[in-house]
Amino acid sequence: MQSTMGLSTTVLVMAFLLSDAASMKRQAYFNKTGDLPCEFTNSENISLTDLVVFWQHEKKMVLYELFKGQENPQNINAIYKNRTSLDQDNLTLRLHNVQIKDKGLYQCFIHHLKESQGMIPIHQKDIDLSVLANFSQPEIMLISNRTENSNINMTCSSVQGYPKPKKMYFLLKTINSTYKYDADMKIIQDDDTSLYNVSISLSFLVFPETNTSIFCVLQPESTQLELLSQPYNIDAKPPQPPLPAPDNVFLTALLVLLIGCAIVVLFTTLTKRKKKKPGPSHECEVIRAEGEESEQANERVENRTPERSNEAQCVVNVSKTDPGDKSAAHF
Ligand SMILES: *[C@@H]1O[C@H](CO)[C@@H](O)[C@H](O)[C@H]1NC(C)=O
Ligand SMILES: *[C@@H]1O[C@H](CO)[C@@H](O)[C@H](O)[C@H]1NC(C)=O
Ligand SMILES: *[C@@H]1O[C@H](CO)[C@@H](O)[C@H](O)[C@H]1NC(C)=O
Ligand SMILES: *[C@@H]1O[C@H](CO)[C@@H](O)[C@H](O)[C@H]1NC(C)=O
Ligand SMILES: *[C@@H]1O[C@H](CO)[C@@H](O)[C@H](O)[C@H]1NC(C)=O
Ligand SMILES: *[C@@H]1O[C@H](CO)[C@@H](O)[C@H](O)[C@H]1NC(C)=O
Ligand SMILES: *[C@@H]1O[C@H](CO)[C@@H](O)[C@H](O)[C@H]1NC(C)=O
Ligand SMILES: *[C@@H]1O[C@H](CO)[C@@H](O)[C@H](O)[C@H]1NC(C)=O
Ligand SMILES: *[C@@H]1O[C@H](CO)[C@@H](O)[C@H](O)[C@H]1NC(C)=O
Ligand SMILES: *[C@@H]1O[C@H](CO)[C@@H](O)[C@H](O)[C@H]1NC(C)=O
Repeated sequence: MQSTMGLSTTVLVMAFLLSDAASMKRQAYFNKTGDLPCEFTNSENISLTDLVVFWQHEKKMVLYELFKGQENPQNINAIYKNRTSLDQDNLTLRLHNVQIKDKGLYQCFIHHLKESQGMIPIHQKDIDLSVLANFSQPEIMLISNRTENSNINMTCSSVQGYPKPKKMYFLLKTINSTYKYDADMKIIQDDDTSLYNVSISLSFLVFPETNTSIFCVLQPESTQLELLSQPYNIDAKPPQPPLPAPDNVFLTALLVLLIGCAIVVLFTTLTKRKKKKPGPSHECEVIRAEGEESEQANERVENRTPERSNEAQCVVNVSKTDPGDKSAAHF
């Protein structure tokens, strides 16, 4: 008699377990609260005082136990102490301050306490909990700035997300084009939290003639939407003036060279003029004869031999830049 009843209960329990075999998927955010519902429909209206309800993680660690309607703090694994609260109406356990290592299989078991038969399992629910952390908005940082015809280097990083993201890349947008730069993600995982920090680096030449906006895009693995950084804008270089302000050594040297050339032109002009007819004042004469003399200078350039090409270039420049010539005359 006893053995037959035992067998029938076993069959009943098997049926329960099979019907609930598919585990329920749940998500929780890192450092937030996750719900672990038992989904027990109390069709026989059994009182809580006749039930034993408990949750366990990965088939070994007990999170919570409700014994005859009272919380039983024994056997609770230390990592779940003070982190749970039970909603007794629908038997949903809430797990607070969720960590990455909290992911995995949870099981809720309900046993009916019967004086004659002891604890009879009447319900089981499997919950597969995944834990997510939203990555931060990607941030672009300049590593090395653009200098004369050198690359610009930048990195983009996004922190404290989970799980590993799918992809991270740069987008370069100009007025009529978009370029995509894929890059290898550097992924580091925090030892304590298990969260990921990711970054990519890029080295490229900017188009000096167009405005460029650089974006960094992160494609997370799961539910989080694609993330876009703030744009990093590189303005087009303004059109070069004929004589830019000498703000570095190179330009200063160029200016000195130009002035030197101007003086040479001035000198040859003066000596030539003196041969033709003596003028009253040097300065007046130069300004008056300017246009005419420039043309002569040009002709001379064409007749020059190749080894003097350096000076020739100077002369051409000077003859093209009127204001430079005038100011040089005042020196
Ligand atoms: C967890 O959340 C608390 C506030 O609720 C915050 O102070 C703490 O910095 C967070 N921890 C992490 C690792 O994000
Ligand atoms: C359980 O009940 C609480 C409120 O009493 C509710 O917030 C929660 O969503 C319920 N959980 C489920 C799984 O129905
Ligand atoms: C369940 O039992 C309680 C008393 O234990 C009673 O008040 C309630 O009406 C019952 N509900 C149903 C649906 O039978
Ligand atoms: C839980 O909270 C109680 C009182 O609030 C405290 O005495 C106990 O140390 C806490 N346990 C853990 C593991 O934090
Ligand atoms: C990079 O260079 C540009 C000019 O080319 C300048 O406006 C900008 O401030 C520089 N940025 C940094 C971070 O040095
Ligand atoms: C952009 O398009 C304009 C015409 O719409 C063209 O003149 C210009 O060269 C283009 N710039 C680049 C960088 O392709
Ligand atoms: C990830 O980034 C955060 C925020 O910048 C930082 O506090 C943390 O130390 C980084 N983790 C690792 C493993 O570098
Ligand atoms: C910029 O990136 C290039 C290519 O990765 C590298 O060779 C160069 O050393 C980098 N420059 C700086 C200043 O980091
Ligand atoms: C670049 O953007 C600036 C404003 O940031 C604008 O004044 C300028 O006209 C733009 N230049 C070009 C070439 O589009
Ligand atoms: C994470 O991002 C999603 C959208 O991508 C948002 O719906 C959700 O509320 C965010 N969660 C947290 C905890 O910030």
